[in-house]
Amino acid sequence: MEYHGYYSIWDGVYYHPHLFGGIMLTAALLGFSTSYFTGIAGFPDLAYMLPYLGNLQKQKGVKKRVRVYMDGCFDLMHYGHANALRQAKALGDELVVGIVSDEEIIKNKGPPVLSMDERLSLVSGLKWVDEVIANAPYAITEDFMNTLFNDHKIDYIIHGDDPCLLPDGSDAYALAKKVGRYKQIKRTEGVSSTDIVGRILASMEDNEVSEVNGECNGIKRNTESQSISKHASKFLPTSRRIVQFANGKGAGPNARVVYIDGGFDLFHAGHVEILKNARQLGDFLLVGIYTDQTVSQQRGTHFPLMHLHERSLSVLACRYVDEVIIGAPWEISKDMITTFNISVVVHGTVSESNSSIAGMVDPYKIPKSMGIFRTLESPKNITTTSVAQRIKANHEIYQKRNVKKEASEKKFYEERKYISGD
Ligand SMILES: *[C@@H]1O[C@H](CO)[C@@H](O)[C@H](O)[C@H]1NC(C)=O
Ligand SMILES: *[C@@H]1O[C@H](CO)[C@@H](O)[C@H](O)[C@H]1NC(C)=O
Ligand SMILES: *[C@@H]1O[C@H](CO)[C@@H](O)[C@H](O)[C@H]1NC(C)=O
Repeated sequence: MEYHGYYSIWDGVYYHPHLFGGIMLTAALLGFSTSYFTGIAGFPDLAYMLPYLGNLQKQKGVKKRVRVYMDGCFDLMHYGHANALRQAKALGDELVVGIVSDEEIIKNKGPPVLSMDERLSLVSGLKWVDEVIANAPYAITEDFMNTLFNDHKIDYIIHGDDPCLLPDGSDAYALAKKVGRYKQIKRTEGVSSTDIVGRILASMEDNEVSEVNGECNGIKRNTESQSISKHASKFLPTSRRIVQFANGKGAGPNARVVYIDGGFDLFHAGHVEILKNARQLGDFLLVGIYTDQTVSQQRGTHFPLMHLHERSLSVLACRYVDEVIIGAPWEISKDMITTFNISVVVHGTVSESNSSIAGMVDPYKIPKSMGIFRTLESPKNITTTSVAQRIKANHEIYQKRNVKKEASEKKFYEERKYISGD
């Protein structure tokens, strides 16, 4: 590829200040440049955003780091988004992610479920993301593309293999393709935000039907199974995907292991922030993810909205997480604490289920008796229920939007062919 010739900036042979602006790049690598993050409250530590901090010397004299850009709305972010960003990151050394502004989403698709701040928190929490650009435009204009190339030093713009057309019907990435700075990834996951909204709306319809029909279980079960099959996950969990998402490392010797458990359904900004705080209490964060059955027992038959493997991938994609237990028990046993050498068990102040409901066993009885239980102030009060509630409150808008999108997604799946790829 022709463009590769420019990468030897660090050799001192090719120096193109108009392309790379060496000073600015260095500043960004050292974490001095906060221009990408202006106006964003509660942004994760720069150290987390720039994991190659210590390697700068080694990078010098070798090769310029390839910077790739991918954008999206990331509304109701799921493991499919995470996987796309993982694939994008593999095409370069540093992944910069543009997050479309609330205003642009409203203009192009209708109101987003999650605010800019929440979407920013979710995307920044992904282990493959190095930098984020808040308030990106919905369509990549020529102006914005130049900003990406010149100010953000982007080498390649990445997009999925689904066509992305501008309102006038032209290819949104035509310019990037023309200059040879476009790369494509395969859309592989059997999940979409449309699916997830569908599952939430279906759970609402089922509730209404069951209320109307009272004890008439036959009708209720019938409707439930219909909507469940319509919105059931198409995702086929494989060991390979889990390996790709996992860190693959156990706790090191003398590590202080922190344990947190939960349903982590509809992975949201509240989850990211509590995981971040939990991780800071030790050296290794082990996350227990309840089985589907446990979540249903605690939260009702319409939950979980995402099944165990989907929830596990979302948690694994989070940069603060070291390992997950796929299907954790509700109660923490002494044996479990010994097996994983757990030093501290934490639980947030904001949570979905109320473990102190009369008649139920306190799941933290043993860690409490051992004096290793800690309550963590939840940084955000968002919950899976409150996210679902936002969709329910605006269900007419989302229903209409979903009907349209379901049609185009159906077409996508029907026309889909085998593609080899990650
Ligand atoms: C178990 O965790 C403690 C920290 O709480 C640590 O000091 C100890 O070395 C760990 N044990 C092993 C075998 O790693
Ligand atoms: C949980 O239940 C207990 C006992 O019923 C109640 O006192 C407490 O306020 C509840 N907490 C939440 C967060 O709902
Ligand atoms: C949640 O937090 C937001 C912002 O901090 C606040 O406006 C809202 O009232 C809170 N909601 C609840 C239910 O506490």
